[in-house]
Amino acid sequence: MADNANGGRPGPPPNAHLWSRDGFNGDMCVTARPYPIVEYTRVQGRHVPHRLDIHDLDLPDRSDPEALPTVFAASRKDVSLAASARSTPTPFAWRNAESDELHFVQDGELDYVTDFGTLRAEPGDFVCLPRAVTYRVVPVTTPTLRVIVETPEQLRLDPPAPFGMISFGRDVKYPDPALSSDASGPTELLVKAFDGITRFSLPHDPLALLGIVGGQVPVWKLNLADIQPLTYVPHGGPPGSFAASTSRDLLFYTLSARPGTRPPMHHNADYDELIFYFRGPGAYGALDQPGQLAWTPKSVGHWGPPEDVPEGYLAWLIESTGTFRLTPVGHAAAHLMETGQFGRQPESADAEQAPVSA
Ligand SMILES: [Fe+2]
Repeated sequence: MADNANGGRPGPPPNAHLWSRDGFNGDMCVTARPYPIVEYTRVQGRHVPHRLDIHDLDLPDRSDPEALPTVFAASRKDVSLAASARSTPTPFAWRNAESDELHFVQDGELDYVTDFGTLRAEPGDFVCLPRAVTYRVVPVTTPTLRVIVETPEQLRLDPPAPFGMISFGRDVKYPDPALSSDASGPTELLVKAFDGITRFSLPHDPLALLGIVGGQVPVWKLNLADIQPLTYVPHGGPPGSFAASTSRDLLFYTLSARPGTRPPMHHNADYDELIFYFRGPGAYGALDQPGQLAWTPKSVGHWGPPEDVPEGYLAWLIESTGTFRLTPVGHAAAHLMETGQFGRQPESADAEQAPVSA
């Protein structure tokens, strides 16, 4: 069959195309094509690849201490992506009643003052703040920039094996309970629920802590650079996820530089793909500036650049079964994207699409 697909030529099939279920984990079929199938010349509608730089988002909390993170994309499964550029300490305590939060620090250092002590986060850190954990954020170095993923499901580190991809003992860090909140007196507490924010006025700081008595502290951090990419040598293969939500609605991967040949063109039947380029020095195709995001909605043909970049780069990927849409704030910073190298689509391909509400 391979000989027929190749027209009798030796070597790999031309313009290999992968159709796959369950992300990279389910049924699949590979075909050879006479030409690449990822280009488009015109598009109308909303289910369209876009790219944006999270530095370009209009983020009110950059200058307004009372402002909240800004949602720039949301999915049908009630997952949201927000960004924050907070430059001053949060003047309230925060608790999410509906969702687990996973923060990714793009720029700056921040202290997360939590129910369980203080955790200092640095660029490249993922910080997990599960539902009902109270915290406030104190910028240590500015400017700061974070991506905040909210999911109504529980997030867990879930690598393919208990060691290898993640060194839990060495690299997963927890808040220091000896560094309790040093605030005192009346505190405003903001609780986020499905229908908005509820404000409590408290007589004391709810984050004040005497010590951990037992159990496992649910807040953790892990740096992207400390997650080893999974690959197959010498030809390459799919990445492996390091974290997941309960139903596997969300899967998180390092998509950093790794050995192997260029991936096939892809139709991802069940997952949107959102790739965040954290930093170089190497470029990942047309993603070459820290903070760039490439979003390919499910079922849209894409190829993606070679990942075997000698200089190396760090990037991460969210797969989402819930179809994403950009909010008006996201659209204001976004551009149409071609899905070969994840560059900007030429202007001739005009998109007529109405932004959706947050
Ligand atoms: Fe893909």
